[in-house]
Amino acid sequence: MSMENSYNGKKVLVRVDFNVPLDKNFKITDDTRILGALPTIQHLLANNAAVILMSHLGRPQKKKLENGELDVEKFTLKHVVDHLSSLLNKNVQFSTDLVGKDARDKARELKGGEVLLLENTRFEPGEEKGDDTLARSLSELADYYVNDAFGTAHRAHASTAKVAQFFDSDHKSFGLLIEKEIKNANKVKENPDSPYTAIVGGAKVSDKILLLENLISKCDNILIGGGMAYTFFKALDGKVGNSLVEEDKLELAKEILKKATQNNTRILLPKDSIIADAFSNDANIQEVASDQIPDGWMGLDIGTKAQSEFTEVIESSRTVMWNGPMGVFEMSNFANGSFSVAKALAKATKKGAFTMVGGGDSVSAVNQSGLSDQVSFVSTGGGAMLEYLEGKELPGLKAIEE
Ligand code: 3PG
Repeated sequence: MSMENSYNGKKVLVRVDFNVPLDKNFKITDDTRILGALPTIQHLLANNAAVILMSHLGRPQKKKLENGELDVEKFTLKHVVDHLSSLLNKNVQFSTDLVGKDARDKARELKGGEVLLLENTRFEPGEEKGDDTLARSLSELADYYVNDAFGTAHRAHASTAKVAQFFDSDHKSFGLLIEKEIKNANKVKENPDSPYTAIVGGAKVSDKILLLENLISKCDNILIGGGMAYTFFKALDGKVGNSLVEEDKLELAKEILKKATQNNTRILLPKDSIIADAFSNDANIQEVASDQIPDGWMGLDIGTKAQSEFTEVIESSRTVMWNGPMGVFEMSNFANGSFSVAKALAKATKKGAFTMVGGGDSVSAVNQSGLSDQVSFVSTGGGAMLEYLEGKELPGLKAIEE
């Protein structure tokens, strides 16, 4: 399953996840995912492979122009070429299509030590449908297939999963990023050192049901923050004012609390909250008990008592996994909760704990706190890491393993 050292002069098709955020001038605002793919690309170049990179960028099929055509200007992977060339210190070639004439000609001419980036895989309607013909055409560009797109491993698309069936097991493998992601995720998934604490946040309980159910059987402590906490408080007959609540998940919230008690897993809800009279950074704010929120006010971050309690639990843990922010950290008045969790993770790491930030918005929060290099591992996967931790089989991984 690991990459080889015998690629000399051979063509290697590499699925990477270059789905990076861009500003309105199409400049990359966070290149974490590109940096994550560099070791694999460099390994291949060091072995004189001809490297053919492919990735998606955004969801162009869902965001077409008014005339029904693709918004090529917005979603072209050309936006990535200059930055990648400078990171690799090498001219990266670009083909204006994925499996058309330009891609086939440039792939055929590509020599060992050279890099070609293909146009956005999702410009092809067959990509997201997992179309076999598209997958076969992709496979015909190269001798080997390497999947290093952990962030997209939960999609059964032509370039992430289907293409692998056209390569035998000696000609397909994971890249170094996927290997690293799996190795680190398994540290919390399989026999984590105890005490194991998971911090789960984000807006909705419904997004985290499977994760919570999976964690209950593994964790000593689960700390709950973010908008989802108020569904739990409401389920416990608390007053939550205008906070976000999923009315249809109240029974489920009770069920989760019951299961945790049966498993001897401690679930901690935030004792207090920073509440606001509008969803705005300029709103009036106050700090109150999380189950005593007046009408017209909403909880937008965990409060100072909750921060201290969560910090204490995190710092005395041997394994920590964080998925989902504690508040609306994009607004400075509601960022302290998430930043305090990031700080506690950094302190726990210093004391020798294994700490992992498992994807999505909590990654942006830890990046914003400036502490991402002080935790053990920050995943490049959002939905992919969530599904992996939920215990689901990821099609992008299965395609290489089978
Ligand atoms: C992500 O950003 O999580 C991955 O690149 C997958 O993107 P998708 O959710 O559009 O499939």
